[in-house]
Amino acid sequence: MKIFSTLTLAAAIACSIFVIESCSKKPSNVTPVKATLYDSLGGSTMVADPAASGKMIEKGRLGIRSVIDSTIFVIAGDTRINGHFTVLLSEVTSGNLSGFTELSDNLTTFVAVGTGAKNYKYDGLSMVDAHDPAKNPRMNGKASSADFDAFVDDLVKGANKNGLPANLLGSIGKIVVSLKAQVVQK
Ligand code: HEM
Repeated sequence: MKIFSTLTLAAAIACSIFVIESCSKKPSNVTPVKATLYDSLGGSTMVADPAASGKMIEKGRLGIRSVIDSTIFVIAGDTRINGHFTVLLSEVTSGNLSGFTELSDNLTTFVAVGTGAKNYKYDGLSMVDAHDPAKNPRMNGKASSADFDAFVDDLVKGANKNGLPANLLGSIGKIVVSLKAQVVQK
């Protein structure tokens, strides 16, 4: 009888612990999804691409591309750094937009992936190679720290042309500044 009571008590305690444990655990099918910076920029919601009739584009990618394209135009007119982009500028001046389209695409994918986009893969040059004239002949001369600061300045102008909220610009700015050591090579 004594043995029976002890066993019953032990089983009751074990059951109570099991019930408390089960109640304290979150349902296993609910995985919290953390919103990324890319989500704040519009995320993967598909919208019409204003540059390609009949085509759709992720809203986040469209927002980033708009800022990148504006920034490339600001850089093109910025005598502090446009000397590094002579290959691109001579192509564009002669009506050849292939290099511009590729740069826009690569930069957009780079930023999209860096901010958390899941549906794109950056397959361009590494940041070190892209800014080493020996590896990338489209880069006319190595960039200095002052060049980098001018680039950031132009990025802010490009972002402001598109009404990018200051907090999102700040978050993108942090990513950009973290790459300075790879881009500045002189
Ligand atoms: C963190 C800042 C920067 C980022 C994230 C960045 C990113 C990139 C990317 C993704 C490419 C394309 C690589 C490819 O085609 O595979 C590129 C190309 C290039 N970048 Fe940067 N860049 C930065 C800063 C700068 C600065 C400061 C300069 C010079 C002032 C510069 C000059 C260039 C040039 C000249 C090219 C080649 C453009 C062309 O294809 O015609 N970049 N950069």
